[in-house]
Amino acid sequence: MLTGAGISAESGVATFRDALTGLWAQYRAEDLATPEAFARNPALVWDWYRMRRQMVARAEPNAGHLALVEMEAQIPEFVLITQNVDGLHQRAGSSRPIELHGNITRARCSREDTPVDHWDETADSPPRCLACGAFLRPDVVWFGELLPLEALRAAEMAARHCDVFLSVGTSNLVEPAASLPWTAAAAGAEVAVLNVSMDGQRRGPAIEHLVGPAGELLPALVQATWPKR
Ligand code: OAD
Repeated sequence: MLTGAGISAESGVATFRDALTGLWAQYRAEDLATPEAFARNPALVWDWYRMRRQMVARAEPNAGHLALVEMEAQIPEFVLITQNVDGLHQRAGSSRPIELHGNITRARCSREDTPVDHWDETADSPPRCLACGAFLRPDVVWFGELLPLEALRAAEMAARHCDVFLSVGTSNLVEPAASLPWTAAAAGAEVAVLNVSMDGQRRGPAIEHLVGPAGELLPALVQATWPKR
């Protein structure tokens, strides 16, 4: 199972590429989500992530997130891979999703990469690492950066060895995550893309398309597979 920003859309969290509401329609990624942007203007970048962190804190997991918790309970080998940085899968109750792009609720030292869970938001922007004095940065993957190696390996392994691979609420444009459904298909898995719109999705003979909101499709899938009396 691979998820993207679309699964959190029904929680009120903006996606990245939806034409009017997507973050990249309103902001320039180069100004906010690259190491160069952080070097140029760390306060601007930190404050933008702080705004998003506050929005995410106000959001609640939706029926799509909860359906994946149910799937995990029903399928012992279930693996959840997410590109989302909002932490809503964990808050819904999914155990240990593989986070390919990090998590905005965490920060790390921009010099030594040490993870930091707590910091003083009223202090400097960005706050400083208590150990070395460097700026803290959000614990996310920016454009031009490598994905966390262990997470990527685990995701690729899951894609290569699964029987069924669902790609939910993602434009499937950003590599290497975008290749995971194709890796699964090449290894013989049944692959389905679940999305409100198939515009821009790569097509392939082995890929099924289910059109609709994740918050409706996923609960319907769970109900059809494990009917509750
Ligand atoms: P995108 O914004 O690129 O794509 C969101 C997808 O969700 C689109 O295909 C929408 O059609 C779909 N969608 C919107 N609402 C939906 C709903 N209710 N149900 C189902 N689908 C819905 O977001 P991602 O694919 O997640 O990277 O973007 C990938 C990466 O690009 C992100 O992780 C982020 C971004 O730059 C980093 O932060 C490193």
